[in-house]
Amino acid sequence: MTFEPSDRALQDHLVRITERAAVAAVEFVGSGNKLAVDGAAVRAMRLAFETALVAARIVVGEGEKDEAPMLYGGELLGAGGPAIDVAVDPVDGTRLAAEALPGSVAVMAVAPRGALVDPAAVFYMEKLISPAAGGALSLERPLTENLSILASALGRPVNQLRVAVQTRPRNQRYIEEIRAAGSIVVPFADGDVVESLRAARGDGIDLLIGIGGAPEGVLTAVAVAASDGHMQARLSPQTTGERDRAVAAGQPHGEVLTLGDLVASPGVFVLTAVTDAAGLAAPRVVDGAVVTESIVIDGVGDPRTVVWQHPVAT
Ligand code: FBP
Repeated sequence: MTFEPSDRALQDHLVRITERAAVAAVEFVGSGNKLAVDGAAVRAMRLAFETALVAARIVVGEGEKDEAPMLYGGELLGAGGPAIDVAVDPVDGTRLAAEALPGSVAVMAVAPRGALVDPAAVFYMEKLISPAAGGALSLERPLTENLSILASALGRPVNQLRVAVQTRPRNQRYIEEIRAAGSIVVPFADGDVVESLRAARGDGIDLLIGIGGAPEGVLTAVAVAASDGHMQARLSPQTTGERDRAVAAGQPHGEVLTLGDLVASPGVFVLTAVTDAAGLAAPRVVDGAVVTESIVIDGVGDPRTVVWQHPVAT
């Protein structure tokens, strides 16, 4: 059985998995407990995989860095079907969910076996994501130069470019350079999957740049590729321990990875809102039923919005 990204039945099995994770996580929205949010989502995902008609291998789990509950690299899941590799973040934006803030999502990307890069030893990745000028933008160029190239490609002055950066001390130098060039910094605290999607689609963001999670970077690459956006990345270990692990695992950090290096063949990206995010509403109860909102990005046409309603007990 071969993997076909646009197969609606397969997509629905995948949506069911992120949807179950989101519904489970919602119980802990506003609880202040990040681990409870993650734990509930991970348990629900594992359970949902039991009936999903896929032969899934987890390549990129998420949670190692924060010692959070996770699906493990190499874990085999699913009830049988097309052989797929999976990158998953049961909840991206766990702090946002724990604090009942918007931008938290349950997210998964799948691709044929062997198609996803495995950054296992390295937790962080430098990312450059834009909707245009892909061939010309480069992590090896000064950021100011990239901003000029992007401005010409978009037909707008540099001072009208909106650049998303995750607010972390490690990203301060990007913020300073962007401001010095006259572009607009759009800071975000957490949840770089949603911000990366916006950058790939030019949805109020023209560029995302900076160092964020490596698992999130791999997930994002599937969506960026399927959205005809542009992305480059570079594994960016932040500690000597991480650097040593990368060397031991033979993972060449410092080397620029193209979209094709990150995801070698087309995949499917699915995301369900945990709190309001990416234009989707958080799970809610309407007339005794739970309503969830998800999107599927498969590279064929626009993202498909999926709104499902289930009796509360299921
Ligand atoms: P989780 O909710 O999965 O923990 O990730 C939140 C997040 O903001 C990601 O979107 C981002 O890639 C990563 O954390 C950055 O890591 P850190 O918080 O360690 O800077």
